[in-house]
Amino acid sequence: MRASNKIIDIIAGARPNFMKVAALFVVADQFPHLKLRLIHTGQHYDISMSDIFFQELGLPKPIKHLEVGSASHARQTAEIMKRYETWVLANKPDLCLVVGDVNSTVACALVASKLQIPVVHVEAGLRSFDRCMPEEINRVVTDSLSDYLFVTEQSGVDNLKREGIPSEKIHFVGHVMVDTLFRMKEKAKELNVAGQYGVMPKEYVYVTLHRPSNVDDEKNLNALCDQLIWLSHQTSIIFPVHPRTKKNLEKINRFQLLKNSAQIHLIEPVSYLESVNLMMNALCVVTDSGGLQEETSALGIPCLTLRHNTERPVTVELGTNTVIGHDGNLFQKRMNDIMLNGDIKSSNKIPLWDGQAGKRILEILNNTF
Ligand code: UD1
Repeated sequence: MRASNKIIDIIAGARPNFMKVAALFVVADQFPHLKLRLIHTGQHYDISMSDIFFQELGLPKPIKHLEVGSASHARQTAEIMKRYETWVLANKPDLCLVVGDVNSTVACALVASKLQIPVVHVEAGLRSFDRCMPEEINRVVTDSLSDYLFVTEQSGVDNLKREGIPSEKIHFVGHVMVDTLFRMKEKAKELNVAGQYGVMPKEYVYVTLHRPSNVDDEKNLNALCDQLIWLSHQTSIIFPVHPRTKKNLEKINRFQLLKNSAQIHLIEPVSYLESVNLMMNALCVVTDSGGLQEETSALGIPCLTLRHNTERPVTVELGTNTVIGHDGNLFQKRMNDIMLNGDIKSSNKIPLWDGQAGKRILEILNNTF
């Protein structure tokens, strides 16, 4: 018998998951009846996309590595499901906790819910209302299967209620990713990543692009490259290139061209601390990542989002984010504003983004499950 101890499988698989689950492990000692078991699906597997995060964040070694690797959406999701089901049947968790919106999230939520294991979704309720995004499909499915829905911002609560999720399942707790950011930012400050490329703080733009809608579409990717060339005539650019983006830039013969520009530093994917350091010291961040929209808002750094929408509207309403879409004129106008006037938007405190979300989550699970 396990007495009153509850075993929780904590699922992580892709780069943005690792900093989120870290915030739970940091406070786990305060809840001795909750036994957290880290399961790595292997969706991301390169050292720079996975191992380095474990080292920096102080994450425990996963109790199980499913080693699924890359594949099409259906194959990857199915492979995670097959392997996680085998694990669950043999090792029976009391709860399955998933974070974010990647394929590992939905795959494990499906497995657990069919085996009658309650599902906890951390970062629930976000909606871009754009079903072209694989993440949007993952969010909608995961939320509809979840028993505990932990939400980062008010829009998430509103979305879930509109979709008919009972209020008692919804818990507005803040953001585990911000917990980790606040815990690690002093350490990140000690680095000088831009200096390695001969670039001074506040004299560069930090760029990250990896969304299929930007980088898998040849026309959009070419247009984005043109914008980067324009930007490189105004200031330096530091751009760690995601593997998906690198492949596609090579396909359209623009990787080397961008790399040849003296002001554009195309670099390998960076670690978590390096990314936070690059963000803190940047004049501005240009991105299509969900996490960077939030981290820049938490840090008060201007952010231009190269997407048509955001599932994180609080970053626009109270943070530093501007959604640019693919509007080249708006991009140049906003960028000129930032270069002339510094910040274009001030960052107001975002409710519950206070470094305590992980503790709130485990407290609720401890008291109610
Ligand atoms: C995934 C998530 C996305 C998240 C992103 C962060 C889904 C649907 N997408 O997208 O939400 O923002 O991670 O990075 O889950 N690859 C490597 N090494 C790795 C991992 C991937 O080289 O360690 C390459 C592979 O060629 C792979 C491609 O990158 O086919 C894309 O990886 P994948 O995990 O399918 O999607 P991401 O674009 O990383």
